[in-house]
Amino acid sequence: MALLEPIQSDVFARATEPRPLVDPFARAITYLRVSVTDRCDFRCVYCMSEHMTFLPKADLLTLEELDRLCSAFIAKGVNKLRLTGGEPLVRRGIMSLVESLSRHLQSGALKELTLTTNGSQLEKYARELKSHGVERINVSVDTLDPDKFRAITRWGDLSKVLAGIDAAQAAGLKVKINAVALKGVNEDEFGDMVAWAHGRGLDITFIEVMPLGETGESRLDQYLPLSLVRARLAERYTLTDTDERTGGPARYVRVQETGGRLGFITPLTHNFCESCNRVRITCTGTLYMCLGQNDAADLRAPLRASESDDALYAAIDEAISRKPKGHDFIIDRRHDRPALSRHMSVTGG
Ligand SMILES: C[S@@+](CC[C@H](N)C(=O)[O-])C[C@H]1O[C@@H](n2cnc3c(N)ncnc32)[C@H](O)[C@@H]1O
Ligand code: SF4
Repeated sequence: MALLEPIQSDVFARATEPRPLVDPFARAITYLRVSVTDRCDFRCVYCMSEHMTFLPKADLLTLEELDRLCSAFIAKGVNKLRLTGGEPLVRRGIMSLVESLSRHLQSGALKELTLTTNGSQLEKYARELKSHGVERINVSVDTLDPDKFRAITRWGDLSKVLAGIDAAQAAGLKVKINAVALKGVNEDEFGDMVAWAHGRGLDITFIEVMPLGETGESRLDQYLPLSLVRARLAERYTLTDTDERTGGPARYVRVQETGGRLGFITPLTHNFCESCNRVRITCTGTLYMCLGQNDAADLRAPLRASESDDALYAAIDEAISRKPKGHDFIIDRRHDRPALSRHMSVTGG
């Protein structure tokens, strides 16, 4: 009898041990993006309507619950975590979440803890982010013209964002600039933005507008294919294709004149789904297996149902078994409507 005991406990340990996440198309899920809030201090024209209704605060996961949820994914093999939103740096107490998650960096389970921000609060938080092990961040800047910046973000102040980027660089953070390409709005600036970013040692990536959520603006009016952006940049710069990939949708080129790296995220003109390694959770604990599909799984209920993570692991496994092969965004004259009703600020960019 005594001999059986260790065997039983070993079997039990194996049964409850979190299994790595592999979807039905044999893609290992190692990258989690977490929208820590749906709120934001900007109202970018392609992302939100001017008068957004936000989730009641009571629906949000607490910071402790977000930590537990992220930690469950890390136990199941996620090694890269990106905090996003809404604007992650406007969530009250966000630094305590970053600090607690940094234990997974120290343990080696997490290779990277990063965030995507509009930069408005970066001056305040850059040093603290760095001190908690964040090495790289993405900052969204669509234009270097203060008036245009105000028009695109509706509420934003470019000088604050630029001061935030200065603070981030001074703190030793690597910064990548994300810029959404908007027809007739910032298309005359791309060459100068590349010169500015590379002149400061920043990578820059252009993003095509994705049809997510009603914003009160027509997608057809906003949509500018990046093939056109690239062709125009090629008139000013020598662009060399590289096979650098980050497991994500960006394709990179080197700009010979600046020596810098330039990325293109083209969800509409290229399909990048076959190498997708990521899933997203919202601030209410809903897991989206694909940015471009509606199918989702509620993780808040299993999270709150018990202090043990077993139900949570089971819910995550079940959801990953439903991860679709890819998305099917379309913007054309017959489809000038959001492909999905939810906004990017819900699932995070
Ligand atoms: C939703 S934001 C969240 C993080 C932060 N507030 C920011 O702006 O960086 C993440 C990224 O998604 C991009 N984005 C938002 N709505 C988009 C849309 N409809 N199409 C393409 N990119 C979008 C933003 O420009 C930003 O780079
Ligand atoms: S893109 Fe980012 S900064 Fe702009 S409204 Fe959306 S969440 Fe806010």
